[in-house]
Amino acid sequence: MKKIAVFTSGGDSPGMNACIRAVVRTAIFNKIEVTGIIRGYNGMVENDFMEMDSRSVSNIIQRGGTILKTARSQSFMTKEGRKQAYDNLVKRGIEGIICIGGNGTFTGAKVFYEEYGIPSIGAPGTIDNDLYGTDFTIGFDTAINTAVEAIDRIRDTADSHGRVFFIEVMGRHAGYIALAAGIAGGAEVILVPESTNDWQKLSDYFIRDKSKKAFSIVVVAEGDEQGGAYKIVDKLRMQIPDFDPRVSILGHIQRGGSPTAYDRVLASRIGNAAVEALLRGETNKMAGLINNQVALTSYDDAINKTKQLNADLLRLVDVFNT
Ligand code: F6P
Repeated sequence: MKKIAVFTSGGDSPGMNACIRAVVRTAIFNKIEVTGIIRGYNGMVENDFMEMDSRSVSNIIQRGGTILKTARSQSFMTKEGRKQAYDNLVKRGIEGIICIGGNGTFTGAKVFYEEYGIPSIGAPGTIDNDLYGTDFTIGFDTAINTAVEAIDRIRDTADSHGRVFFIEVMGRHAGYIALAAGIAGGAEVILVPESTNDWQKLSDYFIRDKSKKAFSIVVVAEGDEQGGAYKIVDKLRMQIPDFDPRVSILGHIQRGGSPTAYDRVLASRIGNAAVEALLRGETNKMAGLINNQVALTSYDDAINKTKQLNADLLRLVDVFNT
């Protein structure tokens, strides 16, 4: 292999730049040329590339977002789009790709390999931490630290006014952010999509025992089956007429910002491992960290298997809520 490409795709996450840097520098260290693809699969289809050298990734390890930009591509989902993308790669002599993203990103890379034989290795870049085959995804640690900082601030107001706050954090299908930020933020109740009996706990807490605490923090994952914090509060208000909680949706502030040291190290290790795996002839695998060791997991497993929420952490929520 003489030339590879790297791109970021799907939602941005803090640490993606550190990963791009690791990919570019590892490739150059191994005497391989690297091209950056702008805006993920869209750039591949629309011929939006930039040659990368060692200096092109200087001074980015500390920056959030992604210098290569990102997108959730519609055009790559079509056969014509993928043909165009393949032609663009061939024109530039690109023989392998490193894709940084989540489930959708790896699904695209897998289909592309099946159709055109372009090998790829994935790096898990998403704040959601919902990928099987890695204990942590790039950006998760930064996101939970951002969420905890916000919860701490809201706690001041909750305490001062004796109010209940429902804080909604990101996590379309998964409760990792809610669970970690909720425990670290001292939440009384945490609602995650993976558990359906948490609503019962919540209503028991506020309906039967509403005088229990002067103020409370409830952390809700946006993907919770109740439909998010506003819906939950509406439902509770119908049952407790004098209930006057506040809702705070943290939203995209969780996606931005300078990556934590943990995310930078994680991204650096994974970016390095991804290139080394590609050069060894591996393909259709995601590089991750399992028990602090680099591990490769097939795209099939990373996409289809479910990483279980830490049951012990879930149990702690109940233990501490006494
Ligand atoms: O997958 C990362 C994530 O931040 C989810 O937690 C969230 O539901 C989604 O992306 C939001 O996507 P968008 O930025 O496209 O609105």
